[in-house]
Amino acid sequence: MSRACLLSAARTAASHAGSGCSSFFARASLKTLLPVSYYSYDMSLRVLIPADQIRVRVQELAAQIDRDFTPGPVYLIGILKGACIFLADLARAMKTPARIEFVGISSYGRGKTSSGEVQVTKDLDVSIEGFDVIVVEDIVDSGITLEYLLKLFAQRRPKSLRVATLLDKPERRQRPVHVDYVGFRIPDEFVVGYGLDYAEDYRNLPDVCVLGRDVDTSVDAPS
Ligand code: PRP
Repeated sequence: MSRACLLSAARTAASHAGSGCSSFFARASLKTLLPVSYYSYDMSLRVLIPADQIRVRVQELAAQIDRDFTPGPVYLIGILKGACIFLADLARAMKTPARIEFVGISSYGRGKTSSGEVQVTKDLDVSIEGFDVIVVEDIVDSGITLEYLLKLFAQRRPKSLRVATLLDKPERRQRPVHVDYVGFRIPDEFVVGYGLDYAEDYRNLPDVCVLGRDVDTSVDAPS
């Protein structure tokens, strides 16, 4: 929801200065926001990264991880909810044995981006002490979430701690976090699909899409 609030705030800034998510929904035409059937790709959706390109890139990332972590096991820690689909595909593309954990974080806390506050709503179920760990994100934006989680996990003494993200938006970075495995560097556009949402919709789109009409669609897959 925090990403959705950011998008709605940006879209309405000119005419509705200071409005939040609720007032935006009250004022805007729902037709322009939530297409009845988003599987048929509403006019406001533009494919940024098609599913077949994602599949190839995920396989490349999995091969890199295999080279770095064989014989394993490695803990993949997915950050709910957005990372669930990337994590599922990445884990199955890997040959290295993987153990899967999830962490939940509060979007309410991350609404306060100036304070950098992040609240854990669901912690790990196991100890990661002495294990190789990869934090799996769908997108790194400001870096606030990742900075917080890396500090938290480092205190638990893993053998190694790395980060994999499907998408990276370096233009938006507020915290200097290091990301080891990057699927695609993307422009500063609001993206949905392949796990990413707008107000909880669009997560199950197979492609990564941009919401909006006049959008920058340049994408870079780092080597
Ligand atoms: C997204 C994404 C990351 C975080 C990145 O979560 O999944 O966890 O934002 O943003 P940051 O780099 O600015 O901290 P979101 O709030 O959209 O929650 P969700 O994954 O449940 O959709």
